[in-house]
Amino acid sequence: MNELSLHILDICQNSIKADASLITIIIEEDIINDFYKIIIGDNGHGMSQKTLSEVSDPFFTTRSTRKVGLGVSLFKMAAEMCNGSFSVDSIVNKGTVVTALFEHGHIDRAPLGDIGETIMILILNEKDIDIYYEHIYNNKKYVFDTREIRKVLGDIPFTEYSVILWIKDNIVNGIKNLQKEETK
Ligand SMILES: Nc1ncnc2c1ncn2[C@@H]1O[C@H](COP(=O)(O)OP(=O)(O)OP(=O)(O)O)[C@@H](O)[C@H]1O
Ligand SMILES: [Mg+2]
Repeated sequence: MNELSLHILDICQNSIKADASLITIIIEEDIINDFYKIIIGDNGHGMSQKTLSEVSDPFFTTRSTRKVGLGVSLFKMAAEMCNGSFSVDSIVNKGTVVTALFEHGHIDRAPLGDIGETIMILILNEKDIDIYYEHIYNNKKYVFDTREIRKVLGDIPFTEYSVILWIKDNIVNGIKNLQKEETK
């Protein structure tokens, strides 16, 4: 996968399968210390110790439609290829946290890609899920939280076209502004 947002989408789909009602995506970019960290947390049903010990193995899956599960192992490989590290923590009935660390400037580190699109897919496919997205760029921070947006929208659904456009714009500009202010 050549965009980090596609890995993120994959990992979030595991959270949805685990019946999470809240997914937390935190991206921390630190140019000076040269790291790019992605933390994805959920409040789903979690994993047993046994499942957890096997989760990074590409030949392990609890899905019944095919014999391999690739989401977690591909993300792990991507991080490790970029002098980074990878971990999964999980507690049954509490949730799961996936952490991937990349060297920011590594030649093989994929760009983030269209994270706005990823978040829209999650929101539109699972209408009851809440997404908290935080993006830190050095010492600046952008936050997007569907719980806050729900309050403002009231009865207007997320599927309303103008709402979709507004959310995508908000995320794209939010990230752009982080980087813009930094280069002043
Ligand atoms: N957030 C999570 N909560 C609970 N279980 C999880 C979570 N993430 C992964 N798992 C468990 O780990 C297994 C492997 O996950 P992985 O994403 O690598 O493969 P998959 O989801 O089975 O298949 P694929 O991602 O290729 O569609 C899953 O089948 C599931 O049992
Ligand atoms: Mg998966």
